[in-house]
Amino acid sequence: MYEEFYRFKEPPFNVTPDPRFLYRSESHRDALAYITYGIFQKKGFIAVTGEVGVGKTTVVNAFIDLFQSSIDVAFIYSTKFPFDQLLYLVCNDFGLDVENMNKAQMLLSLNRFLISQYEKDRNTVLIVDEAQNLSAEVLEELRMLSNLETRDRKLLQIMLVGQPELENILNLNEMRQLRQRIPGICKIPMLTKEETKNYINYRIHIVSEENNGPVFYEDAVKEIYYYSGGIPRLINVLCDRVLLLGYVGNTRRIDGNIVREAMRDLKNKESISVDGLSR
Ligand SMILES: Nc1ncnc2c1ncn2[C@@H]1O[C@H](COP(=O)(O)OP(=O)(O)OP(=O)(O)O)[C@@H](O)[C@H]1O
Ligand SMILES: [Mg+2]
Repeated sequence: MYEEFYRFKEPPFNVTPDPRFLYRSESHRDALAYITYGIFQKKGFIAVTGEVGVGKTTVVNAFIDLFQSSIDVAFIYSTKFPFDQLLYLVCNDFGLDVENMNKAQMLLSLNRFLISQYEKDRNTVLIVDEAQNLSAEVLEELRMLSNLETRDRKLLQIMLVGQPELENILNLNEMRQLRQRIPGICKIPMLTKEETKNYINYRIHIVSEENNGPVFYEDAVKEIYYYSGGIPRLINVLCDRVLLLGYVGNTRRIDGNIVREAMRDLKNKESISVDGLSR
């Protein structure tokens, strides 16, 4: 709506996990390095955790984008379904026809596929996002999947991505066999105030055609950081509203007052997207 006013090519603060917008804060860079290392060193299992909206899925999508020519990926959003259903989705995502097969048949089919991938020297990766929803039983079955190996390497790399509750599940005593396989969990923290400022400017830079965009003053950044706690998704929701108010008020200079007004607006609307902008 306000794109023309700020001369944007597209809206800068969408809430989709679009890897084109990845701002490489130190921790997002570390996460990308951890994933790359784990997958290409064939560690078997890796895990990435972080609070809601901190950028987990965005980092994973950036990894897939970067390496799509050398990896084959099945990407599953876990809900609380049983292992059979998860296995079905995995096989489907790898392009295997497992219609009407039982669990044993699906496992066989997947095993054959993984061996043929190995022979073609393809790196095969299963990503389970929202993995905090997995039960201990399903995790145990996943561990069995990662047992498929040749003498020198794992045939399937499994990446668990989820909210901090995932760590609680992995820390259960009964999970210790799986836990031992994971080379340290990668935890993505919230952005610092300085990073929040750079994050905002980076997203604006990506969509700007010329240097005629909005300018966020220090006090605006301070307020945004305060309300969002440095969580990118909340920063996006707030900044989108801020830019709208700037447009309505015919100004590209964004100060703390506009941010506070945007915050009041969002609270009044009791919009679902404001959930978490709590302070
Ligand atoms: N480093 C980053 N650079 C640019 N945008 C980011 C970054 N981190 C997060 N975002 C943006 O924040 C929003 C939320 O990110 P994302 O969906 O990846 O979070 P998440 O951790 O997967 O959240 P959830 O726990 O709800 O799944 C998206 O719009 C995403 O583009
Ligand atoms: Mg996510």
